[in-house]
Amino acid sequence: MKFHGITGNFAEANVEALVVAVFKGEKAAGNELKDLDKLTGGLVAEVMKAEEFKGDAGQTALLRFASKGAVTAGRLLLVGVGDKADYKPHSVAALAGTATRYLRKRSLKSFALLPRSEANASETAQNAVQGFITSQFELDKYKTKDKNSKTVDTLVVFVDGAKPAELKSGIVRGQAIGESINFTRDLANEPANILPPAEMAKRAQAMAKSVGLKCQILDEATMTRMGMGSLMSVSLGSAQPAKMIVLRYDPVKSTAKKGELLALVGKGITFDTGGISLKPGENMDAMKYDMSGGATVIGTMRAIALLKPTVPVIGVVAAVENMPDGAASRPSDVVTAMNGKTIEILNTDAEGRLVLADAVAYAEKQGATRIVDMATLTGAVIVALGDLNTGIMGNDQPLVDEIISLGKESGEGFWQLPLSAEYSKQIRSDIADIKNIGPRGKAGTIMGAVFIQEFVDKAKWAHLDIAGTAWADGVKPHQAKGPTGVAIRTLIKLVEKSQ
Ligand code: BES
Ligand code: ZN
Ligand code: ZN
Repeated sequence: MKFHGITGNFAEANVEALVVAVFKGEKAAGNELKDLDKLTGGLVAEVMKAEEFKGDAGQTALLRFASKGAVTAGRLLLVGVGDKADYKPHSVAALAGTATRYLRKRSLKSFALLPRSEANASETAQNAVQGFITSQFELDKYKTKDKNSKTVDTLVVFVDGAKPAELKSGIVRGQAIGESINFTRDLANEPANILPPAEMAKRAQAMAKSVGLKCQILDEATMTRMGMGSLMSVSLGSAQPAKMIVLRYDPVKSTAKKGELLALVGKGITFDTGGISLKPGENMDAMKYDMSGGATVIGTMRAIALLKPTVPVIGVVAAVENMPDGAASRPSDVVTAMNGKTIEILNTDAEGRLVLADAVAYAEKQGATRIVDMATLTGAVIVALGDLNTGIMGNDQPLVDEIISLGKESGEGFWQLPLSAEYSKQIRSDIADIKNIGPRGKAGTIMGAVFIQEFVDKAKWAHLDIAGTAWADGVKPHQAKGPTGVAIRTLIKLVEKSQ
């Protein structure tokens, strides 16, 4: 893929199509649209007046240039971006993605984008490039025919009066972020026979090598020796050995306060059958995505390695398969986690919290002072928030607030649910310290969070339940259906804000 930033004459870009953002209800007068209108012999104004095209977000209209004159491109694509007041810097990613998917379908290979964003040139270029890359991800990796072989390979971003260096740095950043999001989506999409825990570890290791991260893989013997009885209990029924993936990013020169360390911790259940508390057969195939939290950690660490912030970050992924067999744990089993707490397992399908218990305790033992864990943890969060908001909970309101607000900047929704000592009481066990489920049908998402909270000691901690947001059931103008790579953009901002 090729990316260029230009500041000269937009209409003269050497591409197959020009793409321009159009706000809802605007006219082709007194703005950038006027020149394009002239070049199309008044077609732009006509289409907009005829109400065929109102500028609603995601709407498209393809026009041809009447007299080409200095114009090299054969076509002009109008892409609606909705109300001007709602047009955010991150909206440029969806704009670029919508244009890319539209033109790709029509076998075009290159376009120049006029985003008309008020953000700075670097941010605009970054979002355009990221949207261009993520919009071309498809689910067809294992198709031998009918594969989507078309790609748009060249994007030219136009920002009036921008410094070339700003455009360049935005392009490089957008590429790092977009490719890392797709890296995560590829992992999340892999079926469990192809991506068991060992393979997930291998891919993380290869990625780490290619971008210069430290990577350590803990095997079952090591985890058992370290006392991770909670995590290991989930793996008992599986023929696939569990792995703990530990990725470390250390800046050349750190600006972090001494001793400060951010940890990203992910649920990496490569397949969740429910174990002995077996899930019903219908839709069980969806549970290949139960390692999306772990995939998010791996993709975010990849982006961090490329963006090189000045603060250290550690990524921890508990990669485990949850299967039923004669060695599997049963409802009523009691296990001991790494922090010494005893757990009564009352439902083996509430396994994500069991692996995260040891993973967050491990992260804190490694020196983490702030922990953000992410997991496809509960079906209940889908009932509560659908696929539009990630559930967020935590023990530190400023950290939760910061993630919510950075989410708004990156176009990712987070919605907080409450935690309290009252809720924590509901997972007290009759025979052990805690049990892994709360009362039936009550606050399922919160129960998952208060369970994980028991394994955080002094660290500031936030928990992201991405069960509803990690997978898109339908195609969008800018995005294929399937794994979304949710939270990566917000987490990158969190890391960069703490520099
Ligand atoms: N991986 C699931 C959560 C899930 C369920 C995600 C459905 C997407 C769709 C998790 O391990 C799980 O099974 N959670 C149980 C918890 C319950 C047993 C307390 C759930 O949500 O039903
Ligand atoms: Zn489960
Ligand atoms: Zn699960």
